[in-house]
Amino acid sequence: MTIFKATNIVWHDNHLNRRDRERVLRQQGCTIWFTGLPASGKSTTSFTLEHDLINRGYTAYVLDGDNIRHGLNKNLGFSLEDREENIRRIGEVARLFADAGIIVLTSFISPYRKQRDFVRKLHVAAGLGFIEVFVDAPAEICEYRDPKGLYKKARRGELKEFTGVDGPYESPIQPELVVKTVKNLPKECVNQILAYLLENGYLKS
Ligand code: ADX
Repeated sequence: MTIFKATNIVWHDNHLNRRDRERVLRQQGCTIWFTGLPASGKSTTSFTLEHDLINRGYTAYVLDGDNIRHGLNKNLGFSLEDREENIRRIGEVARLFADAGIIVLTSFISPYRKQRDFVRKLHVAAGLGFIEVFVDAPAEICEYRDPKGLYKKARRGELKEFTGVDGPYESPIQPELVVKTVKNLPKECVNQILAYLLENGYLKS
């Protein structure tokens, strides 16, 4: 739960608006929110997309769960409350980056629908695009991949509340996109997202 402690604060408007920044960047800032089970391919897909967008001359930046938990969110664990705060902070950071005109790629398990919807609402209220991408890979394949050995650790009982073992994952009901990381290569998943960004006017030529 968010506790409001900031009082006597007054909003100060920027001297130029979002459209002025977007004209310079030739793109519309937005957040592409990757969600999925551990080892489903969120980081691989988002970092490949970032690389591709930069190569094409666009400005993109990945906020990755493991990386953010090395700094900004190093004081948060994996309880329901801490995951909620993790997503709240990242939702706010993503919204700021998107307002700055950047194509933000967030790569977090973000297992709860309610928390993802909270971030969606933040973006909608600010008039910013929010593109939820479900990184879809069967649970048994994610567990088989297990690149960090965490599924094994959780099965041995050495890691509690691990998403996909004894922690829940609520898949999106109406995501903007679903990428299938077992059937398709990272490049193919990235092309699917690029096509969406072009069709919906996020990228200008
Ligand atoms: S989230 O659920 O709060 O969105 P986030 O994406 O930030 O999770 O972090 C997930 C990463 O934390 C995983 O890639 C994994 O390396 C690590 N991790 C450590 N403990 C857990 C756990 N109990 N459940 C899921 N991931 C965990």
